Amino acid sequence: MTDSGKELVDAGAAVAHSDAIENPGFQPEHKRVADLDPQRAKGAERGIAALFIASIVFTILAAVAYNIFPIVEGDPQSIRLNNMFVGLGIAFGLLAIGVGAVHWAKALMHGHDLVEERHGTRGTEETRTRAVEIFKEANAESGWTRRKLVRNTMIGAMVATPIPAIALFRDLAPAGSPQEVLNHTMWKAGVRLTRDPNGTPIKASEVTIGSAFHVIPENLLEVEEGFLDEKAKAAVLLMRLNPSDLKEAADRKDWSYDGIVAYSKICTHVGCPVALYEQQTHHLLCPCHQSQFDVTEHCKVIFGPAARPLPQLPIAVDAEGYLIAQSDFLEPVGPSYWERAL
Ligand code: FES
Repeated sequence: MTDSGKELVDAGAAVAHSDAIENPGFQPEHKRVADLDPQRAKGAERGIAALFIASIVFTILAAVAYNIFPIVEGDPQSIRLNNMFVGLGIAFGLLAIGVGAVHWAKALMHGHDLVEERHGTRGTEETRTRAVEIFKEANAESGWTRRKLVRNTMIGAMVATPIPAIALFRDLAPAGSPQEVLNHTMWKAGVRLTRDPNGTPIKASEVTIGSAFHVIPENLLEVEEGFLDEKAKAAVLLMRLNPSDLKEAADRKDWSYDGIVAYSKICTHVGCPVALYEQQTHHLLCPCHQSQFDVTEHCKVIFGPAARPLPQLPIAVDAEGYLIAQSDFLEPVGPSYWERAL
């Protein structure tokens, strides 16, 4: 290295040394009013408890608002009011918990700095013992066990937070018992089978071997309220097979008419419409998760996750030759969950 180069290195080292900043250490602990005045500490405690109580009140108001401002189908104003009041209740409930927790930490918990040394995942016995001591110190300093009013109101606020969710999720289920709702459809004795979607009645003579019809009950088109719910339960697939291909159980021999059979279109897995009919193999395929049902054997499951056969609709023919239902389905339609509950 040349003399001038060495001088430059020395000069750089000297600058680096003079720029080094000494560790200033911790600032002296700043005492807050609540540390110095027990009356002020008591006031802060009450203020924090009030925030947690306010959170409970807002949360309950959100649940109440959900019922006071119900969503009316086709009325956007009712949706706006429902969303606004439920949303405001939940938002203020959560905000009050957050503000209360921050206020507790700032006003009442100790504010001194801590050094947290890094160490292996499992500390030595000494550090573990020290950790327990720290927890105890933290407990004593935060007042978790001592300030029962603050702690309990905060726990109350946290417990109350899911109340609006219970109201919201409960309302997603159908009114009344779900089993009852799925156990009955619009089919009953004498109701004609009609084409989906135009509602034209179907004569047995129109159903040729190998054909499949998407079917709804004739009285469905008269439904004004809950049309889609009723249609989702009552949808049926109608097929005609060569009668010699059907392997019918003795107690179901009169459920079909000259090789014509009708089955619920709602998959017994999770309820997708089973819409694909393979006329060579007589298999029905659900496109959602590939469950396959054998139409020749009462739609028993031959592949896939569905747990039970598609429910069969008993059918007959009226005096004019139109296909009619003999009754409602004799078991719940749709996913097997409801079947297990019965
Ligand atoms: S819904 Fe049909 S297989 Fe899953």
